This record gives sequence, C-alpha cells and structure tokens, in this order.
Amino acid sequence: MAFPSVWDDSIEAGAVLPLLLARADPDRPWTAGVPFIYRSSCRSTNTALKDMAGHSPAGTALVTDNQTGGRGRLGRTWLSQPGRDLTFSVLLRPSLDPDRAHLLALATGVAVAEVLEDEYQLREQVSLKWPNDVLLAGKKVCGILLEAAAGATGLLWAAAGVGLNVNSEPGALSASLSPALAAEWERRPRPVSLTEHLGTAVPRAPLLAALLARLTRWWTALDLEEAGSREGAGFVEGARIGMLEEWRRRDALAGRRVEIFSGVSHSDRLVSGEAAGIGEEGQLLIQVAGPAPSGGLTEVFAGDVSVLAN
Ligand code: BTN
Repeated sequence: MAFPSVWDDSIEAGAVLPLLLARADPDRPWTAGVPFIYRSSCRSTNTALKDMAGHSPAGTALVTDNQTGGRGRLGRTWLSQPGRDLTFSVLLRPSLDPDRAHLLALATGVAVAEVLEDEYQLREQVSLKWPNDVLLAGKKVCGILLEAAAGATGLLWAAAGVGLNVNSEPGALSASLSPALAAEWERRPRPVSLTEHLGTAVPRAPLLAALLARLTRWWTALDLEEAGSREGAGFVEGARIGMLEEWRRRDALAGRRVEIFSGVSHSDRLVSGEAAGIGEEGQLLIQVAGPAPSGGLTEVFAGDVSVLAN
C-alpha cells in the first residue's frame, strides 16, 4: 500500500495542549499532559521521565518525536518511526499498593482501546492481550511499559509509557534490524499501525490529546478509589471493577490455548492451558488440564504469553 505523506503533524505543546485542555475535566486532581514536555529526540521517554521523577508533579508527560532507545517489557526493544508514531510517558504518584501497580497498566490498555474505538470507529476491532498489549484486528498496535519505585510508605511514583504505531509502516522497520533484533521480532505478535489499518494518515496531536484525557480519567478514578477506601470514604467506588469489566470485554486471550513463560527467551515455561479471563486483581486465569494439584484454575501475575493454535 502507498503510505500517505504526513502534513504538518506537530506533537509539540502548542499543538497538543489546547486540544487537551478543551477535553480536560477541571474536577480531576491532576491532568496527564500537564506539564507537557516535548523533546525532538530522546533515548527512552520512560528512562528520561524516571530521571525527573524526584522533582516533577503527577501528570508530567514526556513526549518525543524520535525515540532512539525505546524499551519494551522484559528487556525487549521498542521500535518506532521518527515523526510518525506516538511515544510518550506520564508520571503518576499513585496511592495504590506496590503489588497492585499493574492495575494502572491494565487501565492504560483500556484507555487506549477506548480512544481508538471512539475516535476512529473501530469498535469490535480492538482487543487487549494480557498483560498490556493493544491489538487492532489481532495485530499489535500499542505496547505499554509501566515502571514504578516503592518506598517504605508505598509507591513513590510510576512511569506509564505508551508506544502507539500511528503513521508508520512497522513491517518495513524489520528490514533494517540487526540479526539479534530480527530474531526477537520474529517471536512477537505481528505489528500494525493505525494508518495501515485505516488506509489514511492520522494526525497525531488530536489523538495524543484524546489519549491523555482518557488516561487521566481512568488513572485518577483508580487512585481516588484507593485513597478513598483507605480513608473509609469510598470516593469513586467501582473504578477498579469497572475498569476490569472494560478489560474483559476486549480480552483477546479468553478461550485460547496459551503458554506462559517467565521471560522473553521462552526457555522457562511457567504453565500452559486455556486462558479463562482475568481475576479481580488483574491476574491472568489459566484453566490447566488434569486433576489437582497441578490441574485446575491457576493464577498468573507476571509473564509472557504465547498463543497456541486451538
Ligand atoms: C511492550 O510492548 O513491550 C511495551 C512497549 C512500550 C514502549 C513505550 S514507547 C514510550 C515509552 N518509552 C519506552 O522506552 N518504552 C515505552
């Protein structure tokens, strides 16, 4: 397919902030994207944001047009095309317990899925692959990397990084890979970009503004619920349950035969069976064949999922 040329497609503060502020809810305690830091080039927005975490407020977003050392889960590499994709990270200061930080990553996937569905009429075409891949017609369009630091009193901060293939041709990126990266790429879900799927170029500023507004909604709701429940106020009760419901509606793995590995090398298989949804804490449930104790419903809190032919 011929790729549409992208016109003036700035994602600098001047292009994004007016659109974000028009959508922002003034009742939220903070807004993802305020303050908004743009860098024309940066190794990894997650790494750079982590370096600023000690002196930056919740909501600080770091956005780049050219991420030169993008990182994925489990030490993988994240590739994107300069000036064509979205690569950004947002600083969170969550009230959640450290062992529940992954709920923020699940919420990030829900927010991205909702925005793609609503803004580009993609309902029924977007799904979520546990723990945090967003798929478009079964191919990976977005990856999420949540990193956090905990102190004696709980989480100090979290950096939520989002890589979204927007106007790139991800298949073409594989042609320029080193042998090691090409081997890593081979084992991954096939990538796709929004423009490949839609057949038209996608302006990034309105998309980024919509994402930041939706992310704010889910992250702050989860956080207020947690803070409220600690104080006994039950402020936005139901945020976690609602988020998990939205996640389950888009579950790409439910009913599929899967294998779970502890790392990218796939040398260490944890479990295999039929994916049976996600539990109340966001863990993956696997129905393992055979009698107990090895058979039955198993919970997985971390790992890499491979889908087997059914
Ligand atoms: C994955 O699918 O393994 C997660 C990919 C996350 C990529 C994003 S791009 C912005 C942020 N900065 C990084 O270095 N990684 C995340």
